[in-house]
Parts: sequence; C-alpha cells; structure tokens
Amino acid sequence: MVESFEQILARPTIFRERDVLSPHYLPDVLPHREKEIEKIMLGISPVLRGERPRNLLVYGKTGTGKTCSVKFVAEKLAAMQSSAKVAYINCRIYNSRYRILQKVVKDFLPQFDKAGYGLAYFYEKLLDWVESDGKILIYVLDEIDVVKDIDDLAYTLTRSNDELKKGGVSLIGISNKLSFKEKLDPRSRSSLFETEMVFAPYTSYQLKEILKQRAAKGFADGAIDEAAVNLAAAIAAQDNGDARYALKLLLKAGEIADESGAKLATDAHVEQARRSVDEDVSFEAISTLPRHQQIVLCALASLQLEGRSYSRLSGNGNGNGNGNGSSGSNGLLSGEVYEKYVQLSRKFRAEARSVRWYREYLSDLEMLGLIAMEDSGKGQRGHTRFIRLSYSPEKVIGLIESSVFGEKGALDA
Ligand SMILES: Nc1ncnc2c1ncn2[C@@H]1O[C@H](COP(=O)(O)OP(=O)(O)OP(=O)(O)O)[C@@H](O)[C@H]1O
Ligand SMILES: [Mg+2]
Repeated sequence: MVESFEQILARPTIFRERDVLSPHYLPDVLPHREKEIEKIMLGISPVLRGERPRNLLVYGKTGTGKTCSVKFVAEKLAAMQSSAKVAYINCRIYNSRYRILQKVVKDFLPQFDKAGYGLAYFYEKLLDWVESDGKILIYVLDEIDVVKDIDDLAYTLTRSNDELKKGGVSLIGISNKLSFKEKLDPRSRSSLFETEMVFAPYTSYQLKEILKQRAAKGFADGAIDEAAVNLAAAIAAQDNGDARYALKLLLKAGEIADESGAKLATDAHVEQARRSVDEDVSFEAISTLPRHQQIVLCALASLQLEGRSYSRLSGNGNGNGNGNGSSGSNGLLSGEVYEKYVQLSRKFRAEARSVRWYREYLSDLEMLGLIAMEDSGKGQRGHTRFIRLSYSPEKVIGLIESSVFGEKGALDA
C-alpha cells in the first residue's frame, strides 16, 4: 500500500522547522559578521543624507556570508526613511547589462517592462524615475563575475551618474572569484569598485556558533547532539570555512536520522551526511565535465563492471580479472582504459584524442577526486599506472548517460 499524504505528514521527525536549515533562510542575527555588516552600513550610510554612496565590491570564498550580510543590510536600509531603492539582482540569472536593467525596470516600473524594447528604452525610463524625486538607486549585483558584458555595464552606470541632474546610482558587487577583477578593463575597474571588502573563511569555532543558532531553531529540543554540531563545524572549517556546506551537513544528518527513525541526530549521522553530500557534489561535477573526460570515466566504469561480472563467472572472487593483466583491487591499467576510451568515443560520436590528451584528462579527473591513480611499481610492463573510480561504476555510467543522452542504458547497445 502506498502511504497517504496524511500518513507522510504524520511521520515523526526530529526537525522543528526544517526551512531554518536551508541556505535561503536569512537569520535575524549573523554571528561573526558584525564587523563586516557595520562596514557595509557605514559605506552605504551617505544615502541617508541623500548622497550617492561609493561603489563597493564584496569579495570572499563561497559560503562566507557575503550574500546574507548584504541582504541583511538591505533590509535594515529598507526599514529607514530614505530616498534609497535597493535592487538585488542575482547575475547567474540576469547575466548581461540588458537583462539587469530590464530586471530593475520590472521590479520598480513594471508598467514599462515590455518585451522587445531595447536597452536605451529601459535606460531612459530608469533615469527618469531616479531623477523624478532624486532617488539613489543601489544595484546589488550578486555573483557579478558572471556578467558577460561587465565593461559595458560599468560604462552605463558611470554615464547614468553623469547624466542625472538629481539623485544617483551606485553599486554593491559581490563575488567569490578573486581573479575576475583582473579581466576587467582598467577604467571599469576603477569606476566599479571604489571600495573593497574581503570576507574571510569561517573558523571551526565560528561555524559552531552559526550552526548552534540554526540548530536551536531548526531541530526539536534535544534532538541534536552537540558532538554532531561540532563535527559538522570541524569538517566545514577544514573544507574552506564554508557555512553553506556546514548547514548542508547538518540538514542531511537530520534527514538521515529521520529516515532511520532515530530520535537524536549524532556525529555518526554527520559522518554519513558528509559522504552523501560529497557524492552529490561530485555527481554534479561529473555531469558538467567536458565530453572527453566523461568518456574516460565511462570507459573506466564499464571496464570495472565487466571485470566484476567476469570474476563472478569465473568464480574468482577478487578483481577485475578481465584477462589482460589488470590486477584487481589495485584498479585498471592505464593502457586498457585508453583502448576502451577510443572504443567508446564512437558511441559518443566524438573523435578520440591522442594519448597525450588522455593523460591530461586523467590528471584533471584525479584533481577533482573522481578517480584515484597509483604507480604500478617496477616489473609491471615498464612504467604504467593503475586507475580506480572513486564512486560506484553503475552510478557514474547512469549519470553520464542521462546527462549526455537524456536516458539511462543508452550505452548498453
Ligand atoms: N554569520 C552567519 N550567521 C548565520 N548564517 C550564516 C552566516 N554566514 C553564512 N550563513 C549561512 O550560510 C549560507 C551561505 O551564506 P551566503 O549565501 O551568504 O554565502 P556567500 O558568501 O554569498 O557564498 P557564495 O559565494 O557561494 O554565494 C546561508 O545559508 C547563510 O544563511
Ligand atoms: Mg552568495
């Protein structure tokens, strides 16, 4: 019998409010970002006197609280009486000058958001609106590094301020790509980023406090062990000090505990969560890999699978035993994987690349942690390497099949 929705809803859970643990939740207190928040507030404060704040760039690695700190300040500003208007834009979605202007028009002047109008139209409408009562329009461009024509955007913003008789526009850019500024035209660099701030990765102690705050709201009383919170914080601190990852571990640990009917989420659940979250991340990496690297992974995966069925048939319990010298638990020989790669390339309708390229692919895949390699040592046909997948071959093949061909089993034929 399939469970009813009522039964599903009535299942016991250790969460009080699961959403609190989601990355989209904005807490009303952001521990260990007081200084950064204050600095942003200070930078933006001229707007309260009707003056244009200087443009600001907020930098820092992923999960260091850039987005939530800027949003926090934007909310505080919105609660004040002022001429400021804040347009928050996620540049992953609005990734060009045109789309950004159109989005601002859509948010503030929906009557003018008509399809088919050009950039000049939106630009004029926005300037009229800003000028009408001397507003200060603050563009918050999150993930600004993905904007395709950022030099054009810089030009447009500078020009707006030149043309406005009243009011002004300014910019808060947010980015986790520390190198993107170097790609900019020097002129846009100096106009876009008059001031800069860097968000440092969180330490284990800081992550602990952040997690504690969320766990207290998100989990039922006494449903999460302190050791679980500490472990999640320690793991995330080692891995770039990323609060998003730390929260993900906690949420996943709770889900795993729920599934197993446990009443308490423990460090063992966090340990399990780590494996599962890392696997999710790797699988995302696999589905976005360049084609030839995907083919190499497929070659490796299918040889591992063939080896497994061979050893089952021959009653030879251990190893890939596919008859040409691979030694089981050590992995497959680099040469045989290359042969399989050449063979599979046809199925992918790709032209196989040379061995030199193949070696590059292997080292990229190793860097991503998707495969492990080991030197064969002496005596094994000169210098060769054993290669092993880091994840289950069935999963890897299934994933590549569905990302490349849109269905599983596409490579079976
Ligand atoms: N100081 C903090 N207090 C509470 N929660 C925090 C804090 N810093 C980050 N978080 C939480 O961690 C998650 C990631 O934060 P945020 O989205 O601000 O990171 P980011 O620096 O913008 O990362 P990215 O560069 O990947 O966009 C969010 O769920 C946020 O609520
Ligand atoms: Mg962000």
